[in-house]
Amino acid sequence: MSFEQIGVVGGGLMGSGIAEVCAKNGIKIILRETDSSVLEAAAARIEKSLDRGVKSNKIDESQKEAISSRITYTTEYSDFKDCQMVIEAIYENEAAKIECFRELDNHVVDSQAILASNTSSIPIMKIAIETNRPENVCGLHFFNPVPVLDLVELIPSLVTSKETIERAHTFAANQLGKIVVRSQDRAGFIVNALLIPYILSAIRMAEAGFATPEDIDAGMVKGCNHPMGPLALADLIGLDTTMSVAISMYEEFNEPLYAPPPMLRRMVEAGHLGRKTQRGFYDYAR
Ligand code: CAA
Repeated sequence: MSFEQIGVVGGGLMGSGIAEVCAKNGIKIILRETDSSVLEAAAARIEKSLDRGVKSNKIDESQKEAISSRITYTTEYSDFKDCQMVIEAIYENEAAKIECFRELDNHVVDSQAILASNTSSIPIMKIAIETNRPENVCGLHFFNPVPVLDLVELIPSLVTSKETIERAHTFAANQLGKIVVRSQDRAGFIVNALLIPYILSAIRMAEAGFATPEDIDAGMVKGCNHPMGPLALADLIGLDTTMSVAISMYEEFNEPLYAPPPMLRRMVEAGHLGRKTQRGFYDYAR
């Protein structure tokens, strides 16, 4: 059975990308944000991304209209009542995610509905046990930019049912056409467990004055053929998200390699969060 109606909580970089990709694949989406100005920003983000698709001839104007018409915007959890799945993509904070899942548990009527988290690093079990249906909860972790990157990590907790795992896998692979990898429920899963220590090492290198951000990034782009260097990637992910993921992983493993360096903390405190604030390791306002 395929999914026809899905809820997405959070209209930031990840939530709007997830909504767009689902709508592109014919699924009706209800996107929830906390207030109408944030919803407008999410709608504008999706519009801009679809325009990119039109410009690069991936979709035409009529497909763009059809995709947009499948997405409705709300500030109410109660609008999720008929959803067959809800994907949470709010900011990386355990207490906020737990509160969100309690709301989903209260409002989603279908007892078979899957409640998925796009968390990058918070163990799924911590969220699942806060609901009355932990067997329906799993992690579905997408990658930024969601319309471009093919991967989804599927993370069952110890109590996720086999049925939920198989339905979530079929959804991501067959309905969205993503490549699915499965990870055990450990903070960071597969990709961030490898990526975050790499990015943090680059930040420590810049902090120590070992090399400039430009030269560190050029080293990895030109020397290893990465599409972008680690500091440009941190700016793309968001420095606040990078720090939150690092903190979750440090809490889980107690390994110094996951500890956020002071330079990252200071930049986050200053509101230099990367592309989304136009300032991070690079200046995007110019
Ligand atoms: N929406 C739709 N299409 C987009 C897009 C978007 N937001 N961004 C880029 N594209 C498309 C472009 O239209 C273009 O398509 P064509 O080649 O068909 O014209 C293609 O993607 C390439 O884009 P650009 O030419 O503009 O730029 P680029 O070649 O420099 O690529 C990039 C940009 C896709 C971001 C590339 O640099 C990249 O893949 N970087 C690595 C990103 C990465 O590692 N992401 C993972 C982050 S970790 C994460 O997300 C998870 C976490 O938990 C922290």
